[in-house]
Amino acid sequence: MRIVLLGPPGVGKGTLADHLKKKYHLVPVATGDMLREETKKGSVLGREIKSLMEKGALVSDELVTQLVVQKVEHGLDLSKGFMFDGFPRTVAQAQDLDTLLERVKAPLDFVLSMEADVDVLLARLTGRRVCRKCGALFHVIYKPSQKEGICDVCGGELYQRGDDNAKTIQSRMQVYQQSTAPIIDYYAKQHKLKKLNANVEAADVRLAVAAMLK
Ligand code: AP5
Repeated sequence: MRIVLLGPPGVGKGTLADHLKKKYHLVPVATGDMLREETKKGSVLGREIKSLMEKGALVSDELVTQLVVQKVEHGLDLSKGFMFDGFPRTVAQAQDLDTLLERVKAPLDFVLSMEADVDVLLARLTGRRVCRKCGALFHVIYKPSQKEGICDVCGGELYQRGDDNAKTIQSRMQVYQQSTAPIIDYYAKQHKLKKLNANVEAADVRLAVAAMLK
């Protein structure tokens, strides 16, 4: 299975990707995580990326597509199935992805457009906590760790992402509406779009997706 998880910040793409990885062994290609890795290198490029992400702006199409091409052509077992999380984010990226997947003869099966109300997204983003060590996702209300500030999976420290503050969240939402939402139409025209109501609890999202995959 080869899919794209599409949706606004905080809709639950990473949470669902984690489940699909465990249940269906799909390999995640998450550009947000890939870019955060680049920022840790402390290079000039890493610092530029960090500054854009902290503002809630998009990193350039060229750079992101280059990272994805490298991963797909050299780091993925295409026979296992994969899912893109956070990519594509512009129509240009969607076109580049089509070209890439055509070249490696692994076209997308479908694109899951996850939808939720703005107040739901805000509550999810402001309460999110992430493990510094293993990347596991928590939420102070919806999925609290057993010990405050400590990851249940590996004992690592939980932190709040630098872009999960009110000002940056607002920019990320605007960028989503302006640059990313047009992709919904792009895939609808290809008859590859499936819509998912993501306002519900994570367990119900998983049930709805399981029904879609039957
Ligand atoms: P990225 O890391 O991709 O962030 P995002 O798209 O804004 O999405 P999030 O990770 O914030 O949310 P999510 O939908 O994964 O939600 P999650 O599952 O964590 O990108 C960050 C930045 O990198 C961008 O702003 C941009 O600068 C750059 N970038 C990345 N890709 C790029 C690209 N292709 N081109 C250019 N720039 C790019 O869930 C959120 C919280 O809610 C968690 O706490 C979770 O526990 C909880 N939760 C999840 N689902 C539920 C549920 N159903 N019920 C209750 N709680 C839930």
